[in-house]
Amino acid sequence: MVVVAIDGPSASGKSTVSKEVALSLQFTYVDSGSLYRGLTWKAIRSGLDMKNSEAVVEWLAGVQIDFFVETRVVRFTMEGEDPGLQLRSEPVRESVSDMAAIPEVRTFVVRHLRDMVRFGNIVMEGRDIGSVVFPMTPFKFYLDADPEERARRRFEEQVKLEGKGDVNAVLDSLKRRDQKDTTRKTAPLQIPLGARVINTTSMSIQQVVELIAADVAKNMSANRS
Ligand code: CDP
Repeated sequence: MVVVAIDGPSASGKSTVSKEVALSLQFTYVDSGSLYRGLTWKAIRSGLDMKNSEAVVEWLAGVQIDFFVETRVVRFTMEGEDPGLQLRSEPVRESVSDMAAIPEVRTFVVRHLRDMVRFGNIVMEGRDIGSVVFPMTPFKFYLDADPEERARRRFEEQVKLEGKGDVNAVLDSLKRRDQKDTTRKTAPLQIPLGARVINTTSMSIQQVVELIAADVAKNMSANRS
């Protein structure tokens, strides 16, 4: 089974690029962040505070997630409910990094992520895919971009989704999340060993997609011969 691991900070272009790479290679796409977001969404609805890790861990034992593939994208329901666009709502956005910093939560999510190979060849995006989830895969990429460019991209997404946004607030929120993600004790965001680093600041989505898809295709045929 082939696993393409694409890591990087928020709004580095990972999601769009990973989806397109999956389409171009005819692989299945997995957004690992959606699991951390899904758990955060469900936990908020259960009245939990993500800073109370003991309560979160106790709650986690009873959480039921069901995965399915729809048009080459892995999706899930939690307790039978589809979180949909709620995954990108503000309360989820502000608490997800606290949720993702809890070691037991990471173990739980990583176990589910490793299981995704049952869906065939995959492109998985996240923060620790090449370093922790699939460290043995030879297909690792790390996307980055300047914080201002990332804030601009996220701001545009937010305006499309919510009809409004504040670019400085977006920049602050990204920086807060970057800080939490790179400094946490368990599986901090880092460049995985052997990953190809791509700075996307002045690249188009299409350029990045072509670069990754070509690299994977070349290495797949090299590994075969
Ligand atoms: O879309 P964006 O890059 O902003 O976020 P995401 O990929 O949906 O991830 C949301 C949050 O989940 C991140 O800020 C991390 O705190 C956490 N996360 C993680 O810890 N490990 C992953 N493999 C993926 C996400």
